[in-house]
Amino acid sequence: MEGVRVDGVERVFRARGRRGVEVVALHGMDLRAAPGEIVAVVGASGCGKSTLLELVCGLQAPDAGTVAADPAVLMPQRDLLLPWASALDNAALALRVRGVPARRARVEAVPWFERFGLSGFEDARPAALSGGMRQRVAFVRTLLAGKPVLALDEPFAALDALTRQEMQGWLARVLAEEPRTVVLVTHDVEEAVVLADRVVVMSPRPGRAVAELEVGLARPRHRTDVAVVALRERALEALGAPA
Ligand SMILES: Nc1ncnc2c1ncn2[C@@H]1O[C@H](COP(=O)(O)OP(=O)(O)O)[C@@H](O)[C@H]1O
Ligand SMILES: [Mg+2]
Repeated sequence: MEGVRVDGVERVFRARGRRGVEVVALHGMDLRAAPGEIVAVVGASGCGKSTLLELVCGLQAPDAGTVAADPAVLMPQRDLLLPWASALDNAALALRVRGVPARRARVEAVPWFERFGLSGFEDARPAALSGGMRQRVAFVRTLLAGKPVLALDEPFAALDALTRQEMQGWLARVLAEEPRTVVLVTHDVEEAVVLADRVVVMSPRPGRAVAELEVGLARPRHRTDVAVVALRERALEALGAPA
């Protein structure tokens, strides 16, 4: 097991048709996640966070540098649930693509619905679920992919503040029970400190790691804990935001 290792990565996008127009998304980006470690990556919009996760999951290749990671699954920024399929079938899809027959895939997904407070909603369509429930269904699907590394792209960004806090607590409990190597991308510094073992701060585009904070606080953590607030301030300072 190697977790995740990103070394000196460069990623450049060339606009199609318009000659000479280049966007350097990442430049000299380094990232480490030890097996079982939860690493949060924070940075401004457009600094290359989603690009970084796609590189970790092997969905893109770097233009320079190296990416080495255990098999990783991406939970994309939008939940991408199929609107016409039931919640259970949406979750079980991860097993179907691994070759598990439909009926067995459903049977295997059911216990996760119980564990994640989704019991009774197996047959509901995504449109009938709250935002928090949709994210939990998407998370079940991500876990059922059976990969040791989870790449979570701003999983709670679209939720209202209260639901976001609930879901942060929920994710902390799930990861305590189901330890994985996690790269959690967020623009919410508080979320990063509450959930992660380590917080990596990225520069604006072209993105690279400019600071790293060991969190090292006992769990469960609360956003109002003095130590959490202090680390949040340090991370904000590293981001260059006014205190
Ligand atoms: N497929 C692509 N083609 C062209 N430009 C892209 C592509 N993907 C990302 N970019 C550009 O790369 C930069 C980083 O994007 P992204 O990784 O999505 O940032 P973040 O997730 O931090 O908001 C942005 O300027 C974005 O417009
Ligand atoms: Mg993004």
